[in-house]
Amino acid sequence: MSHIAWDKSYEIGVDFIDKEHQVLFSTMNKLLNLSESEEKSEWVCREGIKYLKSHTDKHFENEEKYMQSIGYSEYEIHKHLHDDFRHKTMPALEEELQESQYSADAIRHFVGVCIGWVISHTLTEDQAIVGKTGSKWGKIPHGKEKDALETTIIQLVQEMFQLKAKMISGQYAGEDFGNVFCCRFVYSGENKERWQITLVFEDRLLLKIVSNILNTEYPKVDDMVLNVTRYLSRQFLEQIRERIPAFDLMTLEDESLLTHEQLLKSFEREHPDCSLLFGMREGYFAFSAVSAEPLSGKIVSEINHHNAINAVKEYLVKENEEQESRRHKILVVDDSEFMLARIRQLLSDKYDILESNSSISAIKIIAVNRPDLVLLDYEMPICDGKQALEMIRSDEDIADIPVMFLTGRGDKESVKNVKALKPEGYLLKTMPDDFIMKTVDDFFEK
Ligand code: FEO
Repeated sequence: MSHIAWDKSYEIGVDFIDKEHQVLFSTMNKLLNLSESEEKSEWVCREGIKYLKSHTDKHFENEEKYMQSIGYSEYEIHKHLHDDFRHKTMPALEEELQESQYSADAIRHFVGVCIGWVISHTLTEDQAIVGKTGSKWGKIPHGKEKDALETTIIQLVQEMFQLKAKMISGQYAGEDFGNVFCCRFVYSGENKERWQITLVFEDRLLLKIVSNILNTEYPKVDDMVLNVTRYLSRQFLEQIRERIPAFDLMTLEDESLLTHEQLLKSFEREHPDCSLLFGMREGYFAFSAVSAEPLSGKIVSEINHHNAINAVKEYLVKENEEQESRRHKILVVDDSEFMLARIRQLLSDKYDILESNSSISAIKIIAVNRPDLVLLDYEMPICDGKQALEMIRSDEDIADIPVMFLTGRGDKESVKNVKALKPEGYLLKTMPDDFIMKTVDDFFEK
């Protein structure tokens, strides 16, 4: 987690509020230092948190008086956000710290959620007080609607994952609480409106859920875990749709995995209808929905989790069969548009082609899309093909992805330089198209 540097863009132009925000940022940084220090003690943590709480309370009070003094029209919403943080989020995080005796996970959750909340709140809601932006949470449901969704999600987590959840925040905006996997689903409704729903799982929670369901220990997130997660997520949303009919999730149009960075960017752009963060002893989980229509409705039917588990097993058999017959995905990495177009034309009838014009963006694509083969250029600016392959081989989650060089550089020295990184092959751009195609076909047949 990186430190938060105060910057002029955070200022709202009301002197005493800006000064209080600066103190809040510096307190957060102290807590961050503390969370990263080897010799953090429970006492120091407790004192730091006490200081943060008392400063937050005082600041909210002062800011609320200011909003009232200028007749701020969104006062009630803003106060509601403060109340949610001071009366729900902080106490829930503190309880987790105490129950876990200040475990590293609980400290990471506390610091990550607090820092994320403060940055997001200062950059949107506090700026909105002076008209610099609009409120991000202006359209979120309050009261009964939010309670219904909260109750439904807690029930579903209990029934489907067999875990006990508690709501941590009603305004989740991508706070960084650990390694996360984000599954995004885009649905269209009966009246053609679109819902974009993102489920965010902390990795250790994901492993716990999948290990429970399949009755086998999964030590790391691999393809199998992600397949089960995708399936469970879709089932989860199906249940939400049945219980809250206002979630008009008729047709699944798109499904993707997002990196944490992409998740944060989407929160910068979008104003969610609802975005809730839940904590379990086994890790954190968030549910975020964006639509054209506000949420309303009531809870209906129940799920039988034994059926859900059987369905997962059936799904996995089907998924494996589909895996065998599905089109292979090839990522082509080359800084030449001409070369990307040549390979696309050559291979796209038979294979799904992903493209990247730099090694850095290739690494991100590989992490999210996991191609079956990478065709990698050697000579590229900033980070060349050899360095890209070194990065792939050094990351255990993607180290086993086959990489074949497709390059203009055919001298013996270059080929020797990358031998230790075990590429699947070494093709030259001067080779004829049918030879390149046959090599790729042979690779997949093998
Ligand atoms: Fe500066 Fe609304 O907190």
